[in-house]
Amino acid sequence: MNSQRFPPTLREPIRSLGASRIREVANSALGRPGVLPFWFGEPDAVTPAFIRDAAVAALQAGDTFYHHNLGILALREELAAYLAKRHPPVDVARLAITSAGVNALMIAAQALIGPGDRVVAVVPLWPNVTEIPRILGAALERVALEFDPTTGLWQLDLQRLLDALTPGTRAVIVNSPNNPTGWVMSRAAQETLLAHCRKLGIWVISDEAYERLVFDGSTQAPSLLDIADPQDLLMVANTFSKAWQMTGWRLGWLVAPAATVPDLGKLIEYNTSCAPGFIQQAALVALRDGEESVRAFVAELALRRDALVTALSAIEGVEVGPPPGAMYLFFRLRGERDSLGLAKRLVAKAGLGLAPGSAFGPEGEGFLRWCFARPAAQLVDGAGRLRRFLGAYRT
Ligand SMILES: Cc1ncc(COP(=O)(O)O)c(C=O)c1O
Repeated sequence: MNSQRFPPTLREPIRSLGASRIREVANSALGRPGVLPFWFGEPDAVTPAFIRDAAVAALQAGDTFYHHNLGILALREELAAYLAKRHPPVDVARLAITSAGVNALMIAAQALIGPGDRVVAVVPLWPNVTEIPRILGAALERVALEFDPTTGLWQLDLQRLLDALTPGTRAVIVNSPNNPTGWVMSRAAQETLLAHCRKLGIWVISDEAYERLVFDGSTQAPSLLDIADPQDLLMVANTFSKAWQMTGWRLGWLVAPAATVPDLGKLIEYNTSCAPGFIQQAALVALRDGEESVRAFVAELALRRDALVTALSAIEGVEVGPPPGAMYLFFRLRGERDSLGLAKRLVAKAGLGLAPGSAFGPEGEGFLRWCFARPAAQLVDGAGRLRRFLGAYRT
């Protein structure tokens, strides 16, 4: 009866959350056998056995209890050792283990962003990253990467980003390597951005989930950790999901100024309290013993990227190039405007499952995202389906 007088009304930012357009396309494939699924952002292979074995062993040993808010100390120490191999040393006091990369982003945002704050993000972008500030009531301003149809690659007009970072801006969110475009921020651009944010007291939230997935022969993308001071207004979010192929495990981490970490621990208490212990034990082994497997995965991804770019480049009207990072092609069919409609038609008529570019914001409209973390033969099969579809159904 009360519900008549008190309707179950959620906060406006929650009511206006967008439903996932990727799911909308994937759902349209339900009941259609044989659709090749390239829509979601995850590797096709199961997590390497040595990582799974470590989780099983931890469970069998009885690791079923609560742990420290910031993560078990042995994992934080292993993480500090891992980071020290690729960046200036990061003190354990700057680390928090989180329940997935997306949770690291949420914790950072809850800690920094409040109602009415102005937040700037470089887009197109995985929608979770742009919706989090909105959930917290912030006003989000988008600075768009630009697509060069001749190279098929994406670039940042750095000056546009700096111009958007006006005094009073609370935070800027940068995701490099970027989902969906594969764009990688250059060291020079990072230095200019950091100097600008230092001058104006703007926090940088750097989402480095795809840090290890780069294809220029190096083992990692430029990270803000390489150039920032420990006291800088910087939070770096990362995850075990991609490089260690652990998407379903839900484990990530945050690097933050040491002075903020005790409060972040309290915030984690009120979110998830801690990440599961047996998963942390497996992550410790992933960091300690996983380098060979990460490198093999990235080498395989590079081959897959090249196979797909070659196959798509041969199709008339496809504007595509080899992205420097992440695991997606974000490409365009010349003249195409409605990416959601196109993605659904591709499912229905071609058995090809791609994510619509508009899922990543209005800047992505007209584009399609293709996750290439799948076997090369499947990618080439998919490209063939696209070619036949265009031949059969495009004017
Ligand atoms: C840009 C970006 N950041 C962060 C994440 C977080 O991944 P997870 O929550 O699986 O750790 C993802 C996952 O797709 C992503 O694409």
